[in-house]
Amino acid sequence: MSRILVTGANGQVGRELLQALAPLGEVIAGDRTLLDLTCPAQIRQTIGEMQPDVIVNAAAYTAVDQAESHVELANAINGTAPRILAELAKASGATLIHLSTDYVFDGTKQTPYLENDLPHPIGAYAQSKRLGEVGIQGVFGIAPGYIILRTAWIYGVYGQTNFVKTMLRLGAERQEIKVVADQIGSPTWARDLATAIAGFTEQSLSTTTQPASSLDTFLMPPTGIYHFTNAGAASWYDFAVAIFAQARSLGFPLTVQRVIPISTTEYPTLAQRPAYSVLSGHKTAALLGSDPPPWQQGLQQMLTNLYSNTYESHCSVGR
Ligand SMILES: NC(=O)c1ccc[n+]([C@@H]2O[C@H](COP(=O)([O-])OP(=O)(O)OC[C@H]3O[C@@H](n4cnc5c(N)ncnc54)[C@H](OP(=O)(O)O)[C@@H]3O)[C@@H](O)[C@H]2O)c1
Repeated sequence: MSRILVTGANGQVGRELLQALAPLGEVIAGDRTLLDLTCPAQIRQTIGEMQPDVIVNAAAYTAVDQAESHVELANAINGTAPRILAELAKASGATLIHLSTDYVFDGTKQTPYLENDLPHPIGAYAQSKRLGEVGIQGVFGIAPGYIILRTAWIYGVYGQTNFVKTMLRLGAERQEIKVVADQIGSPTWARDLATAIAGFTEQSLSTTTQPASSLDTFLMPPTGIYHFTNAGAASWYDFAVAIFAQARSLGFPLTVQRVIPISTTEYPTLAQRPAYSVLSGHKTAALLGSDPPPWQQGLQQMLTNLYSNTYESHCSVGR
C-alpha cells in the first residue's frame, strides 16, 4: 500500500487532503507536532523513518501581511523547508507535490498567467513562496518526481479563517461592507483543490509503480509546474456579493444590506498584492482530463457544507 504524507494536515487544504487522498493509500497526517518545518533535523528524521511514496506539502507560513515583519520565519517555512523535502524525496524516489501561489506573479498581465510566465513576487510572503519553487527545481533539475502546484484565493470549511468566513462574520454584524474591487483572481474551494491533488497523486503513483515495460517512455510521472484554481475570475467585491447572495438563500443569518466596491488604495495592507493573478488551468485540465468547476459552484458547495455543519443538528439520538 502506498504511503502518502500530508504536511500542514490541520490547514484548510490539509484537512481536505486527508479525505481526498484516503482511497489512494495510507495517509499520514503530518501536523506541526509531527513535522515542524522550521526544524530541518526533525524533517529529515521524521521523513527518513516514514519513507513516504508521496509527500504533499500543504504546510506554509500563510499570513501574507505578517510575513512582511517575519521574513526569516516565512523564508524558513516556505523557502528552505520545501527544498529539504525535495532533497529527501529525490533521494528516496518519492514524489513531492508542493503547493505554491498566484502571488509569485506581480499582476501586471491582463490575461491568465501560464506556468512558464516569468514570476516576479512583490511581497515577503510571495518572495518566500518563490524561494520554495526555486529550491525544489534546483534540487530536481530536469529529473522527474516533483509537482509545484500553484493555486489561489483558497477558502474552505476547515481552517481558522478565510475570506468567506470573514465575510459571513462581518455580514452578520454590519449593514454595509466595503470590499476591494480592483484585485482580480480565481476563488478556489479547498475541496476542489484537494480533488485535483488526488488526481496528480494517483497519476504519480500509477506511473512510478508500473513494472518496467516497453511502454516505459509513455509512463513518465507528471513533473514540473502546474496551475489549479476553480474556473472563472472575480474581484474580491464580486466574490463578496456572491457569498452574501448564496449565503442568504441558504439561510445564514445576515444583516448586511450594501456591499460597496472600493479601490486597493482605500484599503491599504502591509503587503502589496497583485492586481490580476488569474492562473491558466489548461495544462492541469489536459493532464487530469477534466476542467475545474466554476468558482460559483465551489462556493455554493462550501457554503452548503458550512451551513450544515454550523446550523443543522447532526444528533442521531432519538431518530
Ligand atoms: N490560502 C490561500 O488563499 C492560498 C492561496 C494560494 C496558495 N496557497 C498555498 O496553499 C497551501 C495551503 O494553504 P492553506 O490555505 O491550507 O493554509 P493554512 O490553512 O494556513 O494552513 C497552513 C498549515 O501550515 C501549517 N504550518 C505553519 N507553520 C508550520 C510549521 N512551522 N511547521 C509545520 N506546519 C506549519 C499550519 O499549522 P497549524 O495548523 O499548526 O498552524 C497549517 O496547518 C500553502 O502552501 C499556501 O501557501 C494558499
